[in-house]
Amino acid sequence: MEKEKKILYSGMQATNTLTLGNYLGALKNWVNMYEEYECFFGVMDLHSLTVRQNPAEFRKNARSLYALYVAAGLDPEKNCVYYQSHVPTHAQLAWILNCFTYMGELNRMTQFKDKSAKHADNINAGLFTYPVLMAADILLYQADVVPVGADQMQHLEITRDIAERFNNLYGDVFTIPEPYIAKAGAKIMSLQEPTKKMSKSDENPNATILLLDDKDTIIRKFKRAVTDSDTVVRFDEEEKPGVSNLMSIYRCVTGKTYEEIEKEFDGKGYGDFKMAVGEAVATELEPLHKRYDELMKEKSFIDKCIKENDEKAYYFSNKTLRKVHKKVGLTELIR
Ligand code: TRP
Repeated sequence: MEKEKKILYSGMQATNTLTLGNYLGALKNWVNMYEEYECFFGVMDLHSLTVRQNPAEFRKNARSLYALYVAAGLDPEKNCVYYQSHVPTHAQLAWILNCFTYMGELNRMTQFKDKSAKHADNINAGLFTYPVLMAADILLYQADVVPVGADQMQHLEITRDIAERFNNLYGDVFTIPEPYIAKAGAKIMSLQEPTKKMSKSDENPNATILLLDDKDTIIRKFKRAVTDSDTVVRFDEEEKPGVSNLMSIYRCVTGKTYEEIEKEFDGKGYGDFKMAVGEAVATELEPLHKRYDELMKEKSFIDKCIKENDEKAYYFSNKTLRKVHKKVGLTELIR
């Protein structure tokens, strides 16, 4: 593969029941990236092992994530969409990078602190070295850009630090990745507490739209969304976080500007507005649901995509791994 286009790398953990936030904030924006970048998207199943998984459910969720990627429009013929665990170079490079990462650096990771508080009975070494595996993911593909949310920015920074440290010792081995700041897209907030990010682990099910929620559920949740005692549809994140969040969701799915939305609902109540947002989201997700159901049935199509892309990912990443082996002085393979 020639490096004519810049390279983009991203992925999601395989455990996630995706939310509307994951979709509008990430996945939906990924689907056209191939026009500008050579794209790699992983189902990050090795990362998911840092918390205990039920094996059967885990396997199902990983498959479901792959199908959701494709159903959302990520074309597996135009993007390399693959399983992290199928490509052994990830674990191989992660080990080497472990030896170039300091305990002190990893200790500062806020996600590690949060997760160790949450899983106090299972603070395993994988949880600690999670960012090193993520660095391996990114650096193996010589990624130029990585679209990540704010919560992963610290991991991208440590990736850059590890890469620079390695390059300083051994010459230019790794491309230093930059964060990709999406032009469109948005941070979607909880429908019940709109100053908090929408999260699949929210205790209140009405706070979160799941990507596979059916139409009635979607509309019901939007009807119950928290707004304010004012009655004007106006974008003001400080004063009107609930309404602004709904506006930003509506903008993402309809492509309308905030001004247009304000006009559209001028003189109308919140009831109409919430209904319109619910309808628009349900309409946006309808073809995705349909495609998802088909893909989960058409087993062989997904299998073929996985196989081909696993091979492509291996081929590409192994070039970097070989280079790293050579640089650090590991003995070359005898073929
Ligand atoms: N840690 C990321 C998350 O939870 C998932 C991830 C793993 C990732 N490796 C990556 C994202 C490499 C971007 C690039 O969201």
